[in-house]
Amino acid sequence: APQDRLKAELLAVALEAASRAGELLRDGRPADLGVAATKSSAVDVVTEMDIASEKLITDFFADRRPGDGVLGEEGASSEGTSGVQWIIDPIDGTVNYLYGRPDWAVSIAARKDGETLVGVVHAPVRGETFRAVLGQGAYVGDRPARVRPAPPFEQALIGTGFGYIAERRAHQAEVVRQLLPRVRDIRRAGSAAIDLCDVAAGRLDAYYERGLNPWDFAAGDLVAREAGALTGGRPGEPLSGELAVAGPPGLFEQLQTLLDDLGAWHD
Ligand code: IPD
Ligand code: CA
Ligand code: CA
Ligand code: CA
Repeated sequence: APQDRLKAELLAVALEAASRAGELLRDGRPADLGVAATKSSAVDVVTEMDIASEKLITDFFADRRPGDGVLGEEGASSEGTSGVQWIIDPIDGTVNYLYGRPDWAVSIAARKDGETLVGVVHAPVRGETFRAVLGQGAYVGDRPARVRPAPPFEQALIGTGFGYIAERRAHQAEVVRQLLPRVRDIRRAGSAAIDLCDVAAGRLDAYYERGLNPWDFAAGDLVAREAGALTGGRPGEPLSGELAVAGPPGLFEQLQTLLDDLGAWHD
């Protein structure tokens, strides 16, 4: 079918863009890497490498898929004419990258007609590439990715993350205070894209976060869903910046309901 051919092409282009950007970031990380600018708050940082990675990726798409639109965290934005739009996080986990910690990734998703068709999350220092094609499953490298079956709530290992704005963080800390005594433990790895892929690969039972942007979750959301996770926002709502929740059937609904009770979607 033409749609299958399109998906295969988008996957190949996304994998190559992510691999090139990953190589630039891993091999080209300056020893004295510093903060180039701050954005929404003093701890919301961008480095020269975030910008270089986004440029490499958008130049690559302009060359290989000139009719496509792009939306990138560091400012890339164009409509395109093909109906395909690329959602790009040139480094998800910038603070980890800045400190030389391993959990950061290049996240690239292709959307068309309101659906994510392809998602790639490439984590060079981990040596792992997660990928998913809508309706065709999720993979970690060449191995199929599969969520873990839901454990009892009190045995769940839950990932989360925190935004960059102080008032939001105070609220997120309050939700963690309430959640932590009820679960096995909580992890804050520092990359939303990797968190979603870790749910997909059975390395976390579930994940939630408030205040994400499309580039943080577009690719990871598809990887998680294709690995058997349910993803969403508040009960009955789709996953969005308001709230993102991912987990296996059973645990997903329990976490969604509890987060709603705790008001986890508020500012
Ligand atoms: C951030 C990471 C982090 C999450 C933040 C994101 P960035 O993205 O995904 O884990 O908690 O909400 O903004 O700035 O490193 O691309
Ligand atoms: Ca950022
Ligand atoms: Ca991000
Ligand atoms: Ca980023």
